[in-house]
Amino acid sequence: MAQIQWFPGHMAKARKQVQEKIKQVDLVLEVVDARTPESSRNPMLDELVADKPRIMVLNKQDLADPALTAAWVQYYQDQGFAAIAIDAQHAKRLQQIPQLATKLMAEKIARKKARGIRNPMIKAMCIGIPNVGKSTVLNRLVRRNIAVTGNKPGVTKNQQWLKASDNFQLLDTPGILWPKFASQAIGMRLAFTGAIADAVFQEDTVGLYGLTYFMAHYPAALKKAYHVTDDDLNEAPHDLLVKLTKSQGFAEAYDRMAERLIFDARQGKLGRFTLEKPGETDADAE
Ligand code: G4P
Repeated sequence: MAQIQWFPGHMAKARKQVQEKIKQVDLVLEVVDARTPESSRNPMLDELVADKPRIMVLNKQDLADPALTAAWVQYYQDQGFAAIAIDAQHAKRLQQIPQLATKLMAEKIARKKARGIRNPMIKAMCIGIPNVGKSTVLNRLVRRNIAVTGNKPGVTKNQQWLKASDNFQLLDTPGILWPKFASQAIGMRLAFTGAIADAVFQEDTVGLYGLTYFMAHYPAALKKAYHVTDDDLNEAPHDLLVKLTKSQGFAEAYDRMAERLIFDARQGKLGRFTLEKPGETDADAE
């Protein structure tokens, strides 16, 4: 896969805008894709968020491997974050976010109440890389359809506060930061799940990555979707891709089979999957 480089100026601007807005919030909702929790994080965020309380929101749990999602939630909790797995599209468990926020801010709320503020407001901001579902989380939390911001870095000017409940407010546009491709494996995971625009990667490479991963971790899904046999699973991934290309009616067009596999995986036709495990290094994964 070609190395992807973001413009340094672009990154700096996004960073500055998020940095400014962060000053106005009490806590941050860091939204990640539950299928690629670490790879879909922005490496600058720790530094930007500094000491603000944070809720790790593992979104798209409906598409992710449930056992690994539970392991990731535990992993982030062990690191001292609040963490929750949700499916924002179907608003599943979303209302637990304000409850978690209230719990996290308990001391500050108590201090404000002691000063006579009857119902102290908690202000939060969704942050994450493009396509993890920040806008969906935001829209669902405030129960209205606001304009989707598109994949622009940073946050727009003149933001409004939106009410999610009587004491929980969110900025009306999420903070968008780019992913950092610290390794080939991170790029592959983001490409396979659709976090990176399809134009910037080669489908056959990403499809082969996905096939290799599924052969190792989700062989039953391949058996079900493409009638792959146990013998097939002993083949080299490239050879199986060639075989599938033929059996799925694409003749010699491997790229079309690769495209199909990527499409099926994103649509959930290969079942729920997660592309990384807590504590695993990219060297382990490769
Ligand atoms: P962003 O602001 O972080 O860039 O992401 P956004 O909310 O625009 O969501 C990106 C895509 O992910 C959208 O699909 C959205 O519907 C989908 N999505 C968000 N949350 C979830 C979830 O919990 N589960 C599932 N399965 N999908 C989710 P899209 O195809 O780009 O748009 P559309 O088909 O919804 O119009």
